[in-house]
This record gives sequence, C-alpha cells and structure tokens, in this order.
Amino acid sequence: MAIISSYITMTMLSFLFLFFYFPVIVLSFRPLTTFEVPSGGSEAYAFDRDGGGPYTGVNDGRVVKYEERINGFVDFAYASPNRTKELCDGTNDPDLHTICGRTFGLEMYHRTNELYMMDTYYGLCVVGPEGGLAKQLATGSEGESFKFSNALDIDQLTGDIYFADSSSINNLKHVPGQAANLDTTARFLKYDYKTGKVAVLLKNLSLAGGVAISEDLSFVLVSEFMGNKIWKYWLKGPKANTSEILLDVQHPGNIKRAPSGDFWVAVNFQTPNPVPAGIKINENGTILDMVSIGTPFNGVEISEVYEFGGLLFVASPFASLGVVYKA
Ligand SMILES: *[C@@H]1O[C@H](CO)[C@@H](O)[C@H](O)[C@H]1NC(C)=O
Ligand SMILES: *[C@@H]1O[C@H](CO)[C@@H](O)[C@H](O)[C@H]1NC(C)=O
Ligand SMILES: *[C@@H]1O[C@H](CO)[C@@H](O)[C@H](O)[C@H]1NC(C)=O
Ligand SMILES: *[C@@H]1O[C@H](CO)[C@@H](O)[C@H](O)[C@H]1NC(C)=O
Repeated sequence: MAIISSYITMTMLSFLFLFFYFPVIVLSFRPLTTFEVPSGGSEAYAFDRDGGGPYTGVNDGRVVKYEERINGFVDFAYASPNRTKELCDGTNDPDLHTICGRTFGLEMYHRTNELYMMDTYYGLCVVGPEGGLAKQLATGSEGESFKFSNALDIDQLTGDIYFADSSSINNLKHVPGQAANLDTTARFLKYDYKTGKVAVLLKNLSLAGGVAISEDLSFVLVSEFMGNKIWKYWLKGPKANTSEILLDVQHPGNIKRAPSGDFWVAVNFQTPNPVPAGIKINENGTILDMVSIGTPFNGVEISEVYEFGGLLFVASPFASLGVVYKA
C-alpha cells in the first residue's frame, strides 16, 4: 500500500514538474514489463540486425545477450583480457572493474555483425558475432588517454564510429563526485574505420555521455550530462565541422535515434531528487513527446531510452532491472 501511494505521489509530482518545465503533453504510464539483468547495472542496449537482443553491459564486466528461447540472458562478450569468471561473475565491487571491465555504450555494425563496445576502462573495443574477448581499437587521442569511455554510434554506411569519452582524468569510480562536477575534460571523437585513426571533434565537455548520428548522416548529437545540454555537430553541408547548442536540458544521458528519425534522450530532472524521463526531440531540438519514467526507477537516474520494435527499453546503471514501456 505504501509503495502504491508513494508511486502515485511521485508520478503526480513529476507530471506537474515536467509539465511546467516543458509545456508538452507528458505521457506517464506503468511499464509493460521489467526484466532482471544478471549482475544489474545496464547502461545501454543494442540489438543485432536480426532483431536479436538486447545486448547490454552489466556491473561485473560482462556483455550479455537476451535469448528469447530461454527467456533470459547468456554471456556474450567482455573487454578485459584479465577477466576470469571465478573472480568477476556477480561482483559489484567497483575496484574490480580494472580487472573485470565495465562496458557502457554498445552498438552493432550491421554490415559485419560486429559489436562495438565502449568499455569505461578499456576504451573502444570490437567483438565478432561469436562474442568472447573483444579487441581493443583505441585507448586515447592527442596524448590524453580515455579514462571513462562512455557512448558511441556507428555510421552504418562507412563503419566510422562517433564516440564520447567522459573524462581524461576521472574514471567511473570517481563519478558521481565533487571531482566529476568540475571535470571538463570530456571529448567527442571519431574513429575512422578505414585507417583506424582517431580524431578529436569537440573537447572541454562536461561528462559527455550520449552520441547519436542522424538518419541522413548529416549531423551527430552529443549530450553533456554535467553540462546540461545537447550539441549538434554538423558532418555535412555548409556548417560541416562546426557545432551549436541544440537544447538545454537537465542531466541528459544517452541519445538514441528512433525509427521515425527523431531522437530519444534519457534526461534526469533534479528536483532535487532525480526525476527521470524520456524526451523525444526532432533535428531542431523541438520536444515532440515526453515519457515520465516512474517505478521501479524512482530516485535513480536513468541512462537510456531505446525505441525498438514498438517498445521503449529503459536502462539505468543504478538498477538491477531493465524496464519496457510501449512506444
Ligand atoms: C593483466 O595481466 C597482465 C599479465 O598477467 C598484467 O601484467 C597486468 O598488470 C594485468 N592488468 C590489470 C589491470 O590487472
Ligand atoms: C579547453 O580548455 C583549456 C584549459 O582551460 C583551454 O586552454 C582551451 O583553450 C580550451 N579549448 C577549447 C577548444 O575550448
Ligand atoms: C571537415 O573536416 C574534414 C576532416 O578534417 C575535412 O576533410 C573537410 O574538408 C572539412 N569540411 C569543411 C567544410 O570544413
Ligand atoms: C528544422 O529547421 C530547418 C530550418 O529552419 C527546417 O528546414 C526543417 O524543416 C526543420 N525540421 C523539422 C523536422 O521541423
């Protein structure tokens, strides 16, 4: 009973708050279903070209894949060459991430069916359709190593990867924390598929943690979680190689392109407790839709809203569950 009434209060509060924050229709409904993630802590999801998945990185360093036939997750990949199942499986100890790995962003390159992974400790990695130990592709650029690799998206035509490293000085263990609040060493980068070279496109960002390429490949959106904004970086046209602020919004996490070509952004309004929501924006930053994410994520920040197959998959690195809403 207590749980139910606090849910209703929370939902009403967040509804009112969101309504005044953005005068659009706020949709708020209960999840269709939730699913248990082994070891918890999904930060992001990916699906393969056959609709298989979700794939997700979990707390103990594994990337796991949901298998419909067993209605559960199986081991798929990992980024750390030192990882052993004995030491790592099921651990929640952040001190073990250096040995076990910890993958956040991940996406499939459909042409090769390879999974590209942003392991927060092991950088940009890739693994083939059979899974297993991923190959490390990039661990730094311009003399600064990646300390907190976070998000990526893939140009499905060329294989080029656009990605965000959240810090050159603080790793995941220091986030959240005072140090991270003042950290402006996040960078937005590009990995060239043909040459393997990495270029820095934007720097001095404040915990950049979301990246999404537009359907026509003319721009990329980049979010700054601590900077409370979303950038639009032009890849083509007269404004190529320049960027502009697209939207000011509180604590945006991952950005995922929707089947419509618009984008879902996971945001966390600070009231001061986090009130998570998914907002759907178009190429000009107009908010088209907003979904208030209530239980079971009350009080924790969410990292991703991924629309796939008519469903919204919601992830939080602070939760043991994945949550599914109707899109
Ligand atoms: C991984 O193992 C190698 C070889 O045993 C060792 O040199 C290295 O320090 C280990 N790395 C970590 C992060 O534990
Ligand atoms: C980034 O920050 C450094 C140190 O504050 C500064 O020297 C540099 O000009 C900044 N670069 C950009 C591109 O803003
Ligand atoms: C953008 O940068 C790329 C890579 O440095 C370069 O090849 C291209 O000419 C630039 N485009 C414009 C319009 O400046
Ligand atoms: C975005 O703005 C541009 C320039 O004003 C316009 O041409 C375009 O139609 C807008 N896109 C949408 C989806 O409204």
